[in-house]
Amino acid sequence: MPIKPSNPLIPSWSQDQLDCPSSPETEAAYFDPLLNAWVLSKYSDVLAAFRTSSLVLSSPRLGKTIELPDDRERARIRVEALESLSPVPLRRWRDKLNREVYEVADGLSTEKPVDLMDDYARPLCLSLAAMTTGISRDDGARLYEGARHVSAAAAEPYDHALRASAKAANAEIRRYIPSSPERLDSSGFVALSQTLPCLLGNAWFALIQYPLQWTELHQQPALIEQAIEELLRYSGLARTVTRIATADIDLNGCLIRKGEQVILRIIAANRDPDRFPQPNQVDIHRNEGAHFTLGSGSHSCVAAGLIRMAAATITRPLLERFGAPTLVSPVEWQGGSGFRFPRSLWVRLPRAPQDEARI
Ligand code: HEM
Repeated sequence: MPIKPSNPLIPSWSQDQLDCPSSPETEAAYFDPLLNAWVLSKYSDVLAAFRTSSLVLSSPRLGKTIELPDDRERARIRVEALESLSPVPLRRWRDKLNREVYEVADGLSTEKPVDLMDDYARPLCLSLAAMTTGISRDDGARLYEGARHVSAAAAEPYDHALRASAKAANAEIRRYIPSSPERLDSSGFVALSQTLPCLLGNAWFALIQYPLQWTELHQQPALIEQAIEELLRYSGLARTVTRIATADIDLNGCLIRKGEQVILRIIAANRDPDRFPQPNQVDIHRNEGAHFTLGSGSHSCVAAGLIRMAAATITRPLLERFGAPTLVSPVEWQGGSGFRFPRSLWVRLPRAPQDEARI
């Protein structure tokens, strides 16, 4: 069932979740007086917003201005992060991760139900987080619980208690993982150890609903990169990003005044029927182009290449080794108005069809 937000500032569309039969609705841009913000959900509006230099980053906690680093500092951080995520380290991490993923996949039972989150996604993502930040696995395991608090606060940005515990946990993680130009920092650790499993859980839940497409990927693993792109579009993660106008702008005919907040409903735009025919279906052969799951434009996710690499590397062994899984218990959804994900994904993994034939 969708969550029922008790906070009136949490809009009804923040209840969108993956197991709802209907898609997130797209509608014309409107000003929401309660949120005190413009709400954009059509693909063309969200794209225009991403491209407009007069809309700058703002805090997702609406109605509250928080200090963000100035543009020059942000640009410096971005360049530094992109350097630490260049193709050379990406290949090195991929090769290292690749050795681990098959080992863990081969340990998954085909006799008993397995939890794809705790038995597969989370340990591998934690390993990648330790690898990319240069900390030991033991330290990674030690910081895991704190990172969970930080991620929980991002999943429900309106919860004050979660925010307070995230602040303390963040400080602790930063002490262990200082910023360095060659490695990911503490926020990279949190994103990889916590957010990446959520993204994978959503993607796998979606694919499990389409067993024929799982089988096709099993037969043609070369399709995996394009399938990951479609799963990112369909299942997404963060519901919104926010901006504030630094000047009056005309956005596709809608007048946004200087100082007004704008909410970009990226998961709704990813399902806009004007852009993606039959948007509520997973179709690994789709080629309508870019989605917004990793942002777009000058503030798009610096780790997009890493996320795509990790998603493909971690998903590939499941597709190669097993036939289409079946869910053995209802998914318990976790998170809040920021993003939602399966707490666990209990499935039965059948042996791959050709292995079955050999027995
Ligand atoms: C795990 C899944 C991840 C998702 C779904 C994700 C998603 C996003 C999205 C949607 C944006 C755009 C925000 C906006 O336009 O306001 C963004 C920006 C960003 N992401 Fe990620 N991200 C992920 C992982 C990471 C990781 C691992 C890192 C660490 C290196 C990272 C670093 C950043 C940074 C630094 C920005 C801001 C870029 C800027 O302002 O120039 N992300 N991310």
